[in-house]
Amino acid sequence: MAITIRELEIGDFQKGFLETLDHMSKTDLSAEEAIVVWRVRCMAGVRTLVAVIDGKVVGTASLILEQKYIHKGGMIGHIEDVAVHPDHNGKGVGSELIRHLNQLATDLRCYKVILSCFQDLVPFYSRLGFRAHDIGMRFDCPKRGDSRIVTPD
Ligand SMILES: CC(C)(COP(=O)(O)OP(=O)(O)OC[C@H]1O[C@@H](n2cnc3c(N)ncnc32)[C@H](O)[C@@H]1OP(=O)(O)O)[C@@H](O)C(=O)NCCC(=O)NCCS
Repeated sequence: MAITIRELEIGDFQKGFLETLDHMSKTDLSAEEAIVVWRVRCMAGVRTLVAVIDGKVVGTASLILEQKYIHKGGMIGHIEDVAVHPDHNGKGVGSELIRHLNQLATDLRCYKVILSCFQDLVPFYSRLGFRAHDIGMRFDCPKRGDSRIVTPD
């Protein structure tokens, strides 16, 4: 079973990308709406990888880059939106995606990569070289308007 890891392409919206992401959290977007989001993310420099098996997208993970003031203006990477289609769990797809993002972050001269996860995934990420670092906190913003896709002004 050959797994190809590459950057997300426009055709992937018809090849199972949204269905794969839905298994992490429902996107509630049509392919057309998701393509608008993809373009905004590309302009913002977000790197989204997909794992492809037999022409179908079966996994995805993204790297968001952030330039810091600290560490002499150093760069860090945030890993987000890691999802593997349940039909392909346990085949190494998730691990391969994270390895590629860690390599990408290293190539882009990030000094660290961080992510948030639930406790049950600590062993998964530990095997990939991560260590528990701090406690994730979350603030749920009050709803503003009912715009379905929020794009930058
Ligand atoms: C977590 C996830 C990305 C792993 O992808 P994957 O391709 O199945 O992972 P791999 O095959 O590379 O590694 C499998 C190992 O991950 C661990 N693992 C995967 N999901 C796990 C879970 N929910 N709880 C605990 N361990 C888990 C297991 O140890 C497993 O090892 P095993 O095969 O010996 O049991 C995938 O299960 C997924 O998409 N989950 C739903 C979305 C999610 O939680 N995303 C992560 C947000 S931080």
